Amino acid sequence: MIAQTLKWIALRQAQGGEQSRTSDIDGFLELIDQRRLPAELVKIQCRDVEQLYEAIKTLAVRGAPAIGVAAAYGLVLAIQNLDTRHSILDALECLKKASEKLSSSRPTAVNLFWALDRVRKRAEEFVSAAPNGKLQALREAVLAEANTIYLEDVDMCRRIGLNGEKFIKDGSAILTHCNAGALATAGQGTALSIVYEANRRDGLRQKKAKKFKVYVDETRPLLQGARLTAWELKQAGIEVILICDNMAGWLMKQGKINACFTGADRIAANGDTANKIGTYSLSILAGEHGVPFYIAAPLSTFDLSIKSGAEIPIEQRTADEVVTFPPHGRRINAGTRIAPDEISVYNPAFDVTEAKDITAIITDKGVIEKPNADKILALLGDAKTRK
Ligand code: MRU
Repeated sequence: MIAQTLKWIALRQAQGGEQSRTSDIDGFLELIDQRRLPAELVKIQCRDVEQLYEAIKTLAVRGAPAIGVAAAYGLVLAIQNLDTRHSILDALECLKKASEKLSSSRPTAVNLFWALDRVRKRAEEFVSAAPNGKLQALREAVLAEANTIYLEDVDMCRRIGLNGEKFIKDGSAILTHCNAGALATAGQGTALSIVYEANRRDGLRQKKAKKFKVYVDETRPLLQGARLTAWELKQAGIEVILICDNMAGWLMKQGKINACFTGADRIAANGDTANKIGTYSLSILAGEHGVPFYIAAPLSTFDLSIKSGAEIPIEQRTADEVVTFPPHGRRINAGTRIAPDEISVYNPAFDVTEAKDITAIITDKGVIEKPNADKILALLGDAKTRK
């Protein structure tokens, strides 16, 4: 498995003695810079909200669950440098502003808003319970909540893998799109967690690793499949075959693909699912060829406040991602222009797959076959609102 995608690094000063114990609160968020993969494995440090905002917006950190976890730590960054003359009410105001800023980075993945709301709610509860509480104690509560979100994410990844592993048959070939792996989460991924679990040998459970191969769509324009998924699966020793996005249908026609697995950025109450642009076309191709189409996502990716996919905001990104190759070229290694100057470009980053085209949604809490509003509500219950 690859190195940790994101990690809170605490700066503990050596002060010696229990009396002068310093807190873990002062620190920074360390991220793998995914813009530079696979050429370089480089980490960056985010020490304030502005840096984290840039990292999310430019996809240094990406993937719905990873964005959520990163944003939770962003709220720790927002109040860690407030000096102790400030009140806890000032800190709440700071959290509100930071949350607004981070919320404006990317609109589609609901995990971002879910994590920000959850940390702010924890801070508000702290202030209601202890209106004269110390700023330091509030900071510790905010960090603790971010750490909990991180650990839950690691756990949910493993559960999704265990719940979905049975859908990868021995000797089969599967297809995935974009990157829903360790790079997209704090743990071992969502769709790729299923791949890792199918590949796992477990002597205690007398479980053998299954033999299978994974076709990976390159995922234009930003090539998350070619740059990230192919890299990640290769590191894990899994057989991976990279294809261009326009090849999937022909492979299905030839019977080369037994199942498709993708992640999700937001799932509406009726099961309609937003994911990386190209997912919708794949779902239609899969339906046409009788190939099962699975979505893998944690409960934090469901948005029961919206009825259907028509209400999911779709991020529009800039033209340079489409007209230069490789993508990010302007920032890293001068991409070549592949289209005429001043050409009009349309660049939606996500699309919506209809629930009717999804064979099952594999969650950390169980599998929803042929998803619809009733089944989703029955599985989720109040699990989401309890947090
Ligand atoms: O634009 P990105 O790279 O953030 O898009 C990511 C995806 O679409 C993933 O498939 C999704 O977030 C699921 S990640 C486990």
